[in-house]
Amino acid sequence: MNRRVFRLALPGVAVLLAGWSLLAMPGQPALAQQPATEATTPEAAVVKVCAGCHGMQLVTDTPRDYDAWHDTVQKMIDRGARGTPEEFDLVMDYLFQNMTPIDVNHADAETLMAVLHTSQTAADAIVARRTSRPFKDLAELEKAIPGLDKTLLDAKKRMIFFQ
Ligand code: HEC
Repeated sequence: MNRRVFRLALPGVAVLLAGWSLLAMPGQPALAQQPATEATTPEAAVVKVCAGCHGMQLVTDTPRDYDAWHDTVQKMIDRGARGTPEEFDLVMDYLFQNMTPIDVNHADAETLMAVLHTSQTAADAIVARRTSRPFKDLAELEKAIPGLDKTLLDAKKRMIFFQ
């Protein structure tokens, strides 16, 4: 799987410190902290991390581009959204795979990889081919580039543009 390396600033250290001082309070029995079960799919992660303060509706209402999702998620972390780094990776996967429109004829290779869920090889092949001849539609893309995840592309075809 390919992911852009995001620099989401997670407040892990502060949380650890707060937990430590709580456990170290004299005279208090050590709290048996029950870590919530970690989400392991993109769908579960986005519900767990993002649907606590507002519904999922707010998340799915407004598709936005790749960089805008990064900014939005950072804003939510600053507001108090919490999850493990792995859960935030899954949240980004969910947002890119479901809620991110893409223009196949103009997006850079990194964006193609994340949003179309492709390998570097396939992304490079898309860039090389469109330079001489832009793609017309999804069928043409799937035919010309081996190794694309057709199930995923079909599921999000309303977000895939050829401009
Ligand atoms: C700690 C509470 C909290 C959590 C958790 C949270 N949000 Fe939000 N979110 C808010 C608040 C408050 C607003 C409304 C204020 C605003 O519009 O910025 C908001 C607004 C939004 C909006 C609409 C406004 C905009 O910036 O476009 C989107 C989209 C959104 N959240 C996405 C997410 C996603 C994705 C996650 C999971 C990573 C998430 N939220 C988790 C508090 C939260």
